[in-house]
Amino acid sequence: MACPRKTPSLVERKIVVTLRLHRSRKLGSILEAVGNTPLIRLDRVARSAPSVEVYLKLEFANPGGSVKDRPALRMMQDALADGRLSKDKILIDSTSGNTGVAYSLMGAALGVKVQLVMPKNVTKARKDITRAFGTELIFSDPMEGSDGAIRLVRKIVAENPDKYFYPDQYSNPSNPLAHYHGTGAEILDALGDRVTHIVTGLGTSGTMMGTTRRLHEHTRRVHCIAMEPPDSLHGLEGLKHMASSIVPPIYDYDLPDEHLTVTTEDGWDMTDRILAEEGIYVGHSTGANVFAAVQLAEKLHREQQGGCVVTIACDRGDRYFPPMKWERKFAW
Ligand SMILES: Cc1ncc(COP(=O)(O)O)c(C=O)c1O
Repeated sequence: MACPRKTPSLVERKIVVTLRLHRSRKLGSILEAVGNTPLIRLDRVARSAPSVEVYLKLEFANPGGSVKDRPALRMMQDALADGRLSKDKILIDSTSGNTGVAYSLMGAALGVKVQLVMPKNVTKARKDITRAFGTELIFSDPMEGSDGAIRLVRKIVAENPDKYFYPDQYSNPSNPLAHYHGTGAEILDALGDRVTHIVTGLGTSGTMMGTTRRLHEHTRRVHCIAMEPPDSLHGLEGLKHMASSIVPPIYDYDLPDEHLTVTTEDGWDMTDRILAEEGIYVGHSTGANVFAAVQLAEKLHREQQGGCVVTIACDRGDRYFPPMKWERKFAW
């Protein structure tokens, strides 16, 4: 006998409408596509810890393809709001990585001119992506690395302070604030009281600082773990070995509940596993994040504590390949 169809309650109908709206959200501009990134349960790479849930927050789903869209947007919006940035000023910073792509995208969408200072020897791909948005590049001495680019940008700004807005993501409080209001709040929205741990790597430390502050404020304090490479010579792009680096002013060593290290080899191996076993294509800092999350989950499983561990997918693997060439060639 067929079951009589139950009329959905008002609450059930509201849930369906909310889900539908969320999936097909209409946006006023690309800027509104920043945030609300998905959280995926990693069943396969974390199968050695079946009593613990491990989640990966896909920050590569931001329109600029990385975790840096949130702070770049927030730094620009906050500066536009209080007058440090206006349409007649140039945003200038020293970055050849994900923040440079994020500034370039936001600059194009907000009508703000962007200049980036980078060592002359960065890959052609990095130069091509940012230039495609209309960003102007200034090259520093390749022998002086990223510190040389920082010195050059400071010199340019000091010579002409009124011409530029220099966000300086390493000391700008809007960077962690973007993660406090965004990343951290969204993890709580999705998991609520279930979340017990977060582990993520340190670059500027904005993701870790902002997310930790939000999760520590939650009614059931969440255990927050900072990860970094064990030494300065490593292949985990985007991450810093703090002891041998210029320490970012926004970084507070005492804020995380725990610190740990992950080697380049473990990070790269896990990157391959995430791709092959989960079908998720990530960069190597994400591999290191997931390695740390799985190690933690295994420990919680062994000690029969259970738990729910969250980590971050900072960007996608294809960011590390040369993009297809952007050519204006017509063949009729
Ligand atoms: C690929 C990648 N991973 C990790 C990070 C670290 O993020 P945060 O600067 O918020 O510490 C960055 C930052 O640029 C990054 O580009």
